[in-house]
Amino acid sequence: MKCFVCHAPQLEQASEKFMREVAQAVIDYYEKKDSKAKNLLERLTVTCYICHNMKALHPPERPEPNVMYGTKGKGQSPFHAVKRHPYIGNSNFCMQCHGAYLAPDGEPIFCSTIAQSYRDHYVAMGGQSSCQDCHMRAKNRGHTFPGTYVVDMLKEGIGLNVQVRNVIEYKPFAPLTDHTKRNPAAVITVDLINNAGHRIPDGCYWTSKVILELVALDEKGKVVWKGDKEYFEIGLDWYGNRRFVSFEVKDLVDFSLPPREVTTERFYAIFPRDVRRVELITRVKYHVKSGMEFLVHEEKRILEY
Ligand code: HEC
Ligand code: HEC
Ligand code: HEC
Ligand code: HEC
Repeated sequence: MKCFVCHAPQLEQASEKFMREVAQAVIDYYEKKDSKAKNLLERLTVTCYICHNMKALHPPERPEPNVMYGTKGKGQSPFHAVKRHPYIGNSNFCMQCHGAYLAPDGEPIFCSTIAQSYRDHYVAMGGQSSCQDCHMRAKNRGHTFPGTYVVDMLKEGIGLNVQVRNVIEYKPFAPLTDHTKRNPAAVITVDLINNAGHRIPDGCYWTSKVILELVALDEKGKVVWKGDKEYFEIGLDWYGNRRFVSFEVKDLVDFSLPPREVTTERFYAIFPRDVRRVELITRVKYHVKSGMEFLVHEEKRILEY
């Protein structure tokens, strides 16, 4: 139940018989890639009833059976009553599941740490939007809940600003006419702006990272310089080892991009002496896990010497 409490809370009320079917489906899918098992497991997710009833009120208030709660509470249905409650329109509603969780037996589960980052960094730094503002109300996103897997959302979340200045670097005391004693170079400043309401990256894949990558190519397309930097959360177990599976992670080190802040990286690139034209490519990528990576931004600059 420690994982289902957010992923499929309906199982809290399931019968012993059904839980056995679920357990069997997990085994069948794992061992035989059984499609019937897959179908059952895929339906164990966060459904209408979970958000609009089961999790729609905060204790000590308890949801009534056959009532769907909403922020407006308007509309009629032959299947259920409709009631208005402000909780479902508040960030705390989402934070029930999108944050660190202390299981009833006291075990902490760090699947997502968004709630903590939202409250202690975004709101603390003056952020005013709710989860629903950005993820549902903005651009009529409604119930699509875009996140990591939607490149437009990633583009919106990470702003990029690149400044470059050409420099010719002379050896000490070299006369300006001596072309054998100089190198083309560049001063590069990259600003990454986190426009989201929480750190980037976050989420249950502890392998996630944002990668800033700079590559300089000469006239022939040969790589003459590279620079990079990565942003991520490190999940540690109780012994201080870095781990990647949610139930192993108990402590954090934070190298991510903080919200409402500009993270600035500066590079000084020195190129080979005979290069006259450099193409500088700056890329921002969102790496989810091995084999899954999204290109968020790519910017090209030509530097002439
Ligand atoms: C992850 C939680 C979540 C799930 C799942 C979900 N909803 Fe919602 N729904 C919300 C939230 C939050 C709002 C309020 C949005 C706002 O305040 O702008 C909402 C608003 C609504 C509204 C507008 C009515 C009102 O009073 O706010 C309707 C209708 C609705 N949802 C129907 C559904 C249906 C049907 C499903 C299943 C197909 C569903 N929802 C699944 C969270 C959810
Ligand atoms: C009952 C627990 C629960 C509640 C409440 C809930 N979520 Fe989620 N949410 C999940 C789970 C679990 C997933 C992951 C689903 C999966 O991948 O199987 C998810 C996925 C998402 C994603 C997609 C993440 C990605 O990387 O693609 C977004 C965005 C999101 N939720 C936003 C919200 C917002 C905004 C609210 C409040 C209106 C909310 N959620 C309320 C459990 C919840
Ligand atoms: C100011 C707008 C904004 C607010 C407020 C905001 N988000 Fe996001 N969120 C974004 C953007 C943009 C992204 C895409 C960039 C990224 O992946 O972090 C995102 C990504 C996500 C993701 C997927 C990435 C991940 O790390 O798993 C989840 C889940 C999510 N948000 C949930 C929430 C929840 C829950 C809240 C409220 C506690 C919230 N967001 C508040 C803008 C916002
Ligand atoms: C406190 C609620 C909560 C608990 C407990 C929880 N998760 Fe999650 N999990 C989420 C939310 C919310 C998301 C989706 C957004 C994200 O990745 O930030 C998620 C995402 C995931 C993902 C990534 C899905 C994807 O496609 O991006 C995996 C895998 C996962 N959880 C596994 C687990 C396992 C295994 C456990 C039990 C050890 C667990 N979770 C316990 C809330 C929870």
